Amino acid sequence: MRSYLTTPIYYVNGPPHLGHAFTCVAADILARQRRRLGIETWFSTGCDEHGQKNAQAAAAMGLDPQAYLDVRSAEFRALFDRLHVRHDVFVRTSSPTHVARVQEAVTRLHRKGLLHRKGYEGYYCAGCEQFKTPSDLSADGHCRDHPNLVAAPVREDNYFLVIEPYRAAILERLRSDPDFIRPQSFRAELLGLLQEPLEDLCISRPARRVPLGVRLPFDAGYVVYVWFDALLNYLGNVNWPEDGHEAWWAGAEHIIGKDILKTHGVYWPAMLLALGEPLPKALLVHSHWTGEGGLKMSKSLGNVVDPNAIIDALGADSLRWFFARHMRAEADSAISVEMIRQSHAAELANKLGNLHSRLLKFTHATLEGRVPPRGDLTLTDQALRAMVLAAARSWAAPMNLEDIPARTAAVLDAVQHLNRYVTDAAPWSLAKSPATKARCDTVVHVALDALRLVFEALWPVIPASAERALASLGAVEETAAWLPQLDRLRGGAPLGAFPILFPRTG
Ligand code: MSP
Repeated sequence: MRSYLTTPIYYVNGPPHLGHAFTCVAADILARQRRRLGIETWFSTGCDEHGQKNAQAAAAMGLDPQAYLDVRSAEFRALFDRLHVRHDVFVRTSSPTHVARVQEAVTRLHRKGLLHRKGYEGYYCAGCEQFKTPSDLSADGHCRDHPNLVAAPVREDNYFLVIEPYRAAILERLRSDPDFIRPQSFRAELLGLLQEPLEDLCISRPARRVPLGVRLPFDAGYVVYVWFDALLNYLGNVNWPEDGHEAWWAGAEHIIGKDILKTHGVYWPAMLLALGEPLPKALLVHSHWTGEGGLKMSKSLGNVVDPNAIIDALGADSLRWFFARHMRAEADSAISVEMIRQSHAAELANKLGNLHSRLLKFTHATLEGRVPPRGDLTLTDQALRAMVLAAARSWAAPMNLEDIPARTAAVLDAVQHLNRYVTDAAPWSLAKSPATKARCDTVVHVALDALRLVFEALWPVIPASAERALASLGAVEETAAWLPQLDRLRGGAPLGAFPILFPRTG
C-alpha cells in the first residue's frame, strides 16, 4: 500500500508562522518514518495563493499580486527547507498546471449539470474565506476565529454545487470506518456537522470583486472559490486526472488543523463524490499551539513564536523536537520561546547531548577512539538493552499524528535509563584497573550501541542531529528498510569526528 501524506496549503497573506512550521514538521516526521520502513510515500505541501486575503495583502504592500505571491511563497519554501522538511511536491495554486486541473474539475461538474447559478445574499468573512450565516456571527458581525474582522454583507449571483445528496454517503463512511478521522474526538464533531441538511456550496466569486483566482472556463465573469480551488490540490498533486493517480489517491491522508475540519470533512468529500472520485483514506487532525496561558498568539500580546528566529537561535532540530515531544493532537498546547529553550536545554542538551558527549569523549580519550569489544552481558546490561530496543521498535510500528509525542517520550525515557546506566557503571573508574578493564569495555560497547539505536529511532524527529551523531558513532549506513536491532556496532570499529550536537545557549 502506498502512503500519500498532505498538509494544508498555506495562505500567503503574511510570512510563514509557527502553525505552518508545525504542520509541515509533523507531516515530515510521518513521511520519514514511513519511507525508511520501505513504504512508498508521497508528501505534498504548498501555498494557497488565491482569494481575497492574499489580494488584500499584495495591495497593502503596493505589489503586483503575482510578484507578491512569488516573494511570499519563496519564504514558505525557505522555511520548510531550513526545517529539513522533505516534501515531494510544493504546489502553488497560481501555477499553470494547478490552474488547468481546477478548470478541468469545474468543467466536469458543469458538464454533469451539477452547477447552478443563483442569487446569494449573506456575509463574507475574509479571514475564513467563507460565507457566514447570521447564526455564525456575533451580534456585531464578527466570526469566532476572526474577532478583528467584520464579516461584510454580500449580494451577488454565483455558481453553486448542491451537496446535500452526498451527506448520507459521508455519514456512512464516518460510521463504518473508525479510522477515517483521527483522533476519535474529532469524529464526534464531524458527525455533529453532518446532522443537519447541507446548504448548497458556493463554488464561484465574481471576478470583478475577487480578481485573484482561477477563471471559470464556462463563464469568464467568475473565478473559482478559493477553497474549492485549494482543496483540489490534493488530487492534482498525484497527477489527477491522469492515469496512475489512483494508487496514490487510495493512500491519501490529509493532515489538518482542527480549524479546517468542516472544509475537509464536509465540503471536500462532497466535492469528490460529485466528481465521482473516491474519498481519501483518512483525515489526521491536530489541535493548535497557543501562546502561554492558552492565549492566542498575537503581535499585540507579544507572545508570537517566530520559527525562523528559533532556528537561528537553537537550530531546526530543537524546534522539531519541541513539536514532536510536546504536541497534543486532541487538545491545544502552549508554546513560547522560553518553553522551547527549556526543552532544548533540559531534554536535548542535558540528556541526549550530554550522554553522547560523555561517552564519545571518554572513548576517544581512554579507548583509542574505537568501539571496545564486548564481553558477557550482566542482567543489568540486558535489561537496559531490552528497554532501549522496545522504545526504538515503537518507531517501526504503524504510526499516526497522535502517536508522535508518546513515542518520542519513550525514547527520551530510554535515554534517561542509559544515562543512569553509564553513571552507575562508571566506566571511567573501571578503566583504571586491569582487573576491570574488560567490564569497562563491555559497558561502553553496550552504551554506544544503545545510543546508536536511540539516534536511529529519533532520526525522523531530529534528522540532521541524528545523522551527525550516527556518523560520530561510526554506525554503518543501512540501505535496506530500517529494522531496529541491537549489536550493529562492531568491536574495534573507529568512531568518527566528535560534534557538539545541541550546544548550550545563554
Ligand atoms: N489555505 C487554507 C488551507 C487550504 S488546504 C486545501 C488555510 N491556510 S492557513 O494558512 O490558514 O493554514 C492553516 C493550517 O495551518 C491549519 O490547519 C494548521 O494545520 C496550521 N496552523 C495554523 N495555526 C496554527 C496553530 N496556532 N497551531 C497549529 N497549527 C496551526 O487554512
